[in-house]
Amino acid sequence: MPALPDIDVDTTLRDFARLIREAACLPVEERSGGPLKVGVDLGTANIVLSVVDAANRPVTGATFPSTVVRDGIVVDYVGAVSAVRALKAELEQRLGCDLLHAATAIPPGIHHGNVKAIANVVEAAGFEVAEIIDEPSAAARLLGVRDGAVVDVGGGTTGISILRDGKVVFTDDEATGGTHMTLVLAGAYGLSIPEAEARKTDPALDREVFPVVQPVVEKMAAIVNRCLQGHAVDTIYIVGGACSFDQFEQVLRKATGRTVVKPAEPLLVTPLGIALYEAGPAGGAA
Ligand SMILES: Nc1ncnc2c1ncn2[C@@H]1O[C@H](COP(=O)(O)OP(=O)(O)OP(=O)(O)O)[C@@H](O)[C@H]1O
Ligand SMILES: [Mg+2]
Repeated sequence: MPALPDIDVDTTLRDFARLIREAACLPVEERSGGPLKVGVDLGTANIVLSVVDAANRPVTGATFPSTVVRDGIVVDYVGAVSAVRALKAELEQRLGCDLLHAATAIPPGIHHGNVKAIANVVEAAGFEVAEIIDEPSAAARLLGVRDGAVVDVGGGTTGISILRDGKVVFTDDEATGGTHMTLVLAGAYGLSIPEAEARKTDPALDREVFPVVQPVVEKMAAIVNRCLQGHAVDTIYIVGGACSFDQFEQVLRKATGRTVVKPAEPLLVTPLGIALYEAGPAGGAA
């Protein structure tokens, strides 16, 4: 049961990436009627606001490099609120309407108090919280995954959820992510952290950089293998910015012996999935 019937997921993700890149909106005449829905992803590396129409088509979005939340823990409350508020204002201006409700997400297995802190940030930025979902479930929703493993390789952590018949039956979140790749690169090349981050994310250097960060990918694969023990999983769906490398899926495939699927624009899968909540009867304008 795909979450986006009649819509190709990769095309949808590419459309969403373009709307973000161009600071554009889906034209009003191409939108379905009904309320807009908003997702707020408070990531370790990026804050992403996603807006979709009632038919779950991307309408607009914006991202901001973040240091205010770390692995689902709000480390700078004031900074987090002001970043979300600024992104909200930017999108409201672009759309010419107010955005009132938003869903948000948490990494799997975080403490109740930290969930509350995430919700408080979204509320203090001016949204009514429509839903709090765990991040891999948001990704699974967009990808229409009912059976398999979703692995979210973000800035700070690798989150794993195993789904069976549409239900999450296992989750884990381990502290290995893109930040660790950057640290390895900085050490190997004698670069500062910002220099290493720039080198890592330059698509033109993908092939040169990958062998240096491959041990980190192998550590991630070992984490995934440990989590898969005792679960019948045929397919692993990888999302999150740190799996952007061309050869990432190949290494994971070899280490796990499973089919590995990487959607287009993996960094945007979880953020867009968060916005796909069911608007309730009180949904109203987003
Ligand atoms: N083209 C790229 N090649 C390699 N790494 C990339 C690329 N683009 C982004 N990244 C890395 O992806 C990470 C950010 O991914 P993402 O936005 O999914 O994380 P996050 O949601 O902020 O973090 P988390 O989920 O761990 O809280 C960063 O470490 C960034 O350097
Ligand atoms: Mg994330």
